[in-house]
Amino acid sequence: MSEQTIILITGANSGIGYATTQILTEHPNYHVIMGCRDQEKGEKALSQLQSTNPKGTISLIQLDVEDDTSIAKAVDTVTQKFNRLDVLISNAGTGAVHLSGRAKLQQIFSTNVIGAMLVTEAFIPLLLKSEKPYMIQVSSGLGSLALANDPSNISYAVSYDEYRMSKAALDMMTIQMHKRLQGQVRVFAFCPGLVRSNLRGTDEASVTVNGTAGDPLDSGRGILRIVVGERDEEAGGFVRHVGGSYPW
Ligand SMILES: NC(=O)c1ccc[n+]([C@@H]2O[C@H](COP(=O)([O-])OP(=O)(O)OC[C@H]3O[C@@H](n4cnc5c(N)ncnc54)[C@H](OP(=O)(O)O)[C@@H]3O)[C@@H](O)[C@H]2O)c1
Repeated sequence: MSEQTIILITGANSGIGYATTQILTEHPNYHVIMGCRDQEKGEKALSQLQSTNPKGTISLIQLDVEDDTSIAKAVDTVTQKFNRLDVLISNAGTGAVHLSGRAKLQQIFSTNVIGAMLVTEAFIPLLLKSEKPYMIQVSSGLGSLALANDPSNISYAVSYDEYRMSKAALDMMTIQMHKRLQGQVRVFAFCPGLVRSNLRGTDEASVTVNGTAGDPLDSGRGILRIVVGERDEEAGGFVRHVGGSYPW
């Protein structure tokens, strides 16, 4: 077994996925596989990251979480190259801000729930070949049913109904995965915080939420703390990037 920790991140060409790749590859013993649905965007992101002289290593695979053929090919590639996966970071997601009505619901659920679940299921056999596997589902505090129903919480007044519903569903999937894989895979739902990314749109105000959004590198640092084992005791929980957890 090679000494490197093999990590796959979906949606790695942008926002939190990109920043997490950057943080993880500051460490020489990590190999990050960037899963990107768009080959061109993936190659651009990869070459930008390579130009920062990472200590770890990086590779790219085409991975569209909504495409079964793409998922199957990605599993084949990882099997052939590494024959195991140590960390799955299921990060690809969308706010489908350009859509409305049924189309918006379908897009959000297709990516954030169905895509996340099918990619995860497909990679479980490779995770089970690792000596200490981790599964991290990138969720959002906006998915918490408890916080959505708490008038004293800041997220009470936030709309984004379709997106919130999708993350609540993702959280249920995470609970189910944890119960199924307990003792074999450390499973986490992870809230990356409100950070700059293309999730809400690509204009400056949307990326930065009018200057209020934080740095996605901090989300990456939060993921690193899970990967290095600092948060093992919290497996099965809904953890925040700054420490602590959210109620489901
Ligand atoms: N940013 C925040 O404040 C925040 C807060 C809480 C949770 N999150 C979560 O963090 C995760 C990452 O989002 P982000 O904020 O970094 O947004 P982002 O910049 O828009 O990144 C999303 C990534 O997901 C990819 N993606 C979308 N659909 C995909 C598909 N069908 N197959 C594969 N990849 C796909 C995108 O690829 P393309 O570039 O090709 O579109 C992009 O790489 C999401 O799950 C999001 O819900 C973000």
